Amino acid sequence: MTSQVPIIAIDGPSTSGKGTVAKLVAEKLGFHYLDSGSIYRTIAYAGRMQNIPLDNEALLLKVLENADLSFKNDQILLNGKDVSEAIRSEESGRGASEVAVHKALREAILGFQRSFEKPPGLVAEGRDMTSVVFPHAGIKIFLTASAQIRAERRYKQLISKGNSANMASVLSEIILRDKRDLQREISPLLKTKDAIEIDTDTLSISDAVDNITHLFSLKSQTS
Ligand code: DC
Repeated sequence: MTSQVPIIAIDGPSTSGKGTVAKLVAEKLGFHYLDSGSIYRTIAYAGRMQNIPLDNEALLLKVLENADLSFKNDQILLNGKDVSEAIRSEESGRGASEVAVHKALREAILGFQRSFEKPPGLVAEGRDMTSVVFPHAGIKIFLTASAQIRAERRYKQLISKGNSANMASVLSEIILRDKRDLQREISPLLKTKDAIEIDTDTLSISDAVDNITHLFSLKSQTS
């Protein structure tokens, strides 16, 4: 089945550049944009705020039930409060990866994620956009880069924001997160057979964006 609404689904490991690329592609095409990782980050953040252990799925489901989560322009609102900055921390990223292993929790947010499938189109990014959430997407991309390059990028980001950072620990955090996201039983990060791999080790963000929009225009001409 292919969707009536054009969907570009982009999956990849943390810090591969998929967030920036997906957002720019969505802007260029005038499409909606879904950053699915921010949902897991917000659940982890909300859980931590309520002192809930992130391995307790039943309690996290309660947190989710009582949470009013919405996206407004570039902001992520949790019960009306802008949490966009707070959920970008290393701690929220790690927490997101921990809560993301829970099956029922993943299923509980499927409908919310799919509600972004609206005309004129959607660019959705995460770990299971191509495999589970939008398997019918017309264009599937696996955006990746080596752990070393991703760690260097993350290190620079942290330093430029005035945070203290240590390259070795940034790299080991990335390797740990990859391991958890790739090896979990439920909806692990994987490259689907029909996904096109784009490696951003040597490719600039704008070239990756151009490649994807070019693929989209080729696909639109043939369908
Ligand atoms: O893309 P990100 O770094 O913001 O994602 C944070 C974590 O959320 C990631 O380590 C794994 C989880 N995640 C997921 O399991 N499935 C998604 N579709 C998106 C993110």
